[in-house]
Amino acid sequence: MQLLVRGSIVCLALALLLVIAGCDGHDAHEWEEMERLELESLSLAALGPLPLNPTNLAGNNELAQEMGRRLFFETRMSANDAVSCATCHQPERRFTDGIGVSVGLGLAERNAPSLIGVAYSPWFYWDGRKDSLWAQALAPIEAVNEHGSHRLQVVLLMYGEDYRSTYEEVFGDLPQALVISELESLAQSDLDWAQRWSALGPIEKGLVNQIFSNVGKAIAAYERLLMPGVSRFDQYVAAIIDDDIKLANNTMSVHEAEGLRLFIGAASCTQCHNGPLFTNNAFHNTGLLSVPGATPDAGRIRGLRELLVDEFNCRGAYVDTTIECDELKFVKTGSELRGAMRTPSLRNLQGTAPFGHAGQFPDLRAVLDHYNEALDAMIGHNEAKPLELWPWQLEQLEAFLETLAAPPTVARKWLQDPNTVEP
Ligand code: HEC
Ligand code: HEC
Repeated sequence: MQLLVRGSIVCLALALLLVIAGCDGHDAHEWEEMERLELESLSLAALGPLPLNPTNLAGNNELAQEMGRRLFFETRMSANDAVSCATCHQPERRFTDGIGVSVGLGLAERNAPSLIGVAYSPWFYWDGRKDSLWAQALAPIEAVNEHGSHRLQVVLLMYGEDYRSTYEEVFGDLPQALVISELESLAQSDLDWAQRWSALGPIEKGLVNQIFSNVGKAIAAYERLLMPGVSRFDQYVAAIIDDDIKLANNTMSVHEAEGLRLFIGAASCTQCHNGPLFTNNAFHNTGLLSVPGATPDAGRIRGLRELLVDEFNCRGAYVDTTIECDELKFVKTGSELRGAMRTPSLRNLQGTAPFGHAGQFPDLRAVLDHYNEALDAMIGHNEAKPLELWPWQLEQLEAFLETLAAPPTVARKWLQDPNTVEP
């Protein structure tokens, strides 16, 4: 009798261990054919070369990349000569700023995303209100709470001795007669930028916009260099594909592999975080609360409205090549986009807390707790279903997410301010 009791206790303990180890007692590093295919699709090896955007023919031009790097760290495109792109996109923080909502001249509305791998995206900003990297780069310069500057200030900088020769080598001669005389006399007047702008005629405005859009194109050429690096997860997938279980075992722990299994399985994360950058590049409402005091963020609904009337969108006059612009033609609309945000990549989580479009989550565990409960959304409808996972499963998921960390694949000099460090 005693033996029997002891036996069943041992059995129970064993069963419990099996549950903890992997639910149905499978080997954590053993994957079915379908799962292996899915893992391969998530690996960085599946990320193709970055295509050139035909609306920006300077995208791969080396001089444009150098110029873009200088512009990225340039503070003279701001109202107080103190804000640059790198104020909020700091290279040492994976191009984020470590705060919930960014601060430039004032308080921005949202959390600064990482820029690593961003050039692969078809949409920019959490609400996708820009459809090219170069058009995006123009917006913060004129946003009152970011650079707070004006396109005229940027254009005058291009005419100055620091940029002129590089600009002309990349984009051709600056239009001398038409613009500069008027701009200079305007610059000496007491008018503010907006008044000076309205004093210009349509032809001058068009020329200014062309130069301004070229500035964005140089910045975009620089940002295209910020490529994601190979992570432990990518090495793990390579080992699994090679059937090298020993290497797989040494690359990822059982705990992490179980997190991966949840990620692609029971937790359905790959419904939205899929492909080699862990994003489907689509917009979803996942029920994030607003920051206290802020009104609920309309997300994609508002972003789309702004994109369609943007003079710098792919239908505008400032594209280098006229394109079909299918992304805009067949853009998804509908009420489910209320409060929806673009699915962010999960390759840049390390050191980029807080998370969420307004920095709502201090750490990864807080994000996972949010998905686990999936409460009703404040605006629109929460697409995510409650996961109801055990605490230790959330730990596994978190451990897996950490295996995606990797420094970007980019030469050191591109991470440094050229004004303070000589390459
Ligand atoms: C004051 C801080 C601040 C400054 C300065 C700033 N940004 Fe940003 N950036 C942000 C914030 C915040 C967002 C997200 C805003 C949103 O989605 O509404 C963002 C979004 C972006 C995105 C879109 C990323 C994505 O995944 O969709 C890119 C690209 C970007 N910024 C590049 C730049 C460039 C280039 C400059 C300089 C010309 C710049 N930023 C200046 C804070 C800043
Ligand atoms: C329905 C689509 C969808 C599903 C399913 C989904 N996500 Fe997300 N995820 C998003 C969107 C959209 C955001 C941005 C939400 C926001 O800020 O409003 C996001 C944000 C995140 C963030 C924050 C990233 C950052 O840089 O701020 C993490 C981490 C994350 N998701 C992990 C997961 C994990 C893990 C799962 C599975 C448990 C999951 N997601 C399931 C769409 C989804």
